[in-house]
Amino acid sequence: MIDFTRRPGDLNRLPASGQLAPPRGAPVVSQRPQFDGVCSVIAWSSVSSSISASIFGFSGVPQSATKPFFDELSGQRQAIPPIWMMRQAGRYLPEYRDVRAKAGGFLDLCFNPELAAEVTLQPIRRFGFDAAIIFSDILVIPYALGRSVRFEVGEGPRLEPPDDPAKVAALAPQADFGKLAPVFEALRIVRAALDPKVALIGFCGAPWTVATYMVAGQGTPDQAPARMMAYRHPEAFAKIIDILVENSIQYLLAQLAAGADALQIFDTWAGVLPPTEFACWSVEPTRRIVEGVRAKVPDAKIIGFPRGAGAQLPGYVETTGVNAVSIDWTAEPAFIRERVQTRVAVQDNLDPLVLITGGAALDRAVDNVLANFGQGRLIFNLGHGIQPETPIAHVEQMLKRVRG
Ligand code: CP3
Repeated sequence: MIDFTRRPGDLNRLPASGQLAPPRGAPVVSQRPQFDGVCSVIAWSSVSSSISASIFGFSGVPQSATKPFFDELSGQRQAIPPIWMMRQAGRYLPEYRDVRAKAGGFLDLCFNPELAAEVTLQPIRRFGFDAAIIFSDILVIPYALGRSVRFEVGEGPRLEPPDDPAKVAALAPQADFGKLAPVFEALRIVRAALDPKVALIGFCGAPWTVATYMVAGQGTPDQAPARMMAYRHPEAFAKIIDILVENSIQYLLAQLAAGADALQIFDTWAGVLPPTEFACWSVEPTRRIVEGVRAKVPDAKIIGFPRGAGAQLPGYVETTGVNAVSIDWTAEPAFIRERVQTRVAVQDNLDPLVLITGGAALDRAVDNVLANFGQGRLIFNLGHGIQPETPIAHVEQMLKRVRG
């Protein structure tokens, strides 16, 4: 049953227009993208999907009906929006920095189950968030595919790039999931330690975003190497995407089997693509992942984060079948209310820079989010990851403002 209870301050947080979100289920114009020749390359080519979830001992989604975060995702609006933050385990926390220093490299931390579980739980202990996200990284999939992946201090990831068709042809089609066993073990440890009211989120990168790092061998300001490869060698690029789709499905299923309640697909660089390429390289692979996961776990709850998708969000939601979308701070509120929040839950979009700023600016920004999206299904979050320089007191201020 949907809970229409008002949230604290709802009355004085109406949007300027005074309009509320349309009721759930209101008709929405179909935005299903039309694929052209480029996309047909990936839509119909496929690597073998021979990996069985049974190798991970899959036994179904954990029962999560009592968690506010899970209920919001499942269609039951909560009086107070559930809250968590992208990158909530991270360098802004002194306790994270301590563990990180002990662990050695970043990947050493990701692959140490006890320490990864510990840093996953740190923000829950400190702030009482409604969801924990497992501590790992989107680049563990290329690592399990046998690619060299390193994180240089202060420089971000460095990978060995399959940047021409011959190198792509030599890519392993199948990840060695044994290499990711520590991630599954960390999920089990967190699951056992977590208050049953707190949800556990597993994740992967969307194929497009993971491919941008694989092809460039590092982060780039404009993802030019992947965009160029997709134009120049669409079939080779489609092969990378296909490999990532198939292995992401298995990875997400294994995370559900290890205790994740819900999954998030991070497409951090979706917003750099023109509409046709967005449909082809961001939407369609994500749709295939959602379909592949639901083929084994029909009620799997999945959140998409096509950062920067803007006007294409309704089409993304409609085509992929996600249960919720994470939106960034540039999203236009009335558009989101009317075209997106009528269909799925929205994970909102506080600007991480206003969280650094704090004070009255932060209060205003939190109030705006609640005014803009608080009448519908809302999971309070940031529009992207929390920045390392964010004061802890500002996170506390945000939480107090949201929870009243
Ligand atoms: O959210 C969480 O608390 C869970 C952990 C998490 C990390 N990365 C830990 C991390 C998650 C969900 C991610 C996702 C991720 N990783 C994305 C998608 C989301 C986003 O933020 O855009 C991307 C693009 C990556 C790739 C990545 N990992 C980059 C580009 C970098 C370097 C930049 C940086 O922030 O340092 C990382 C490293 C990374 N991943 C850190 C953390 C906590 C910092 C490493 C450290 O502690 O030294």
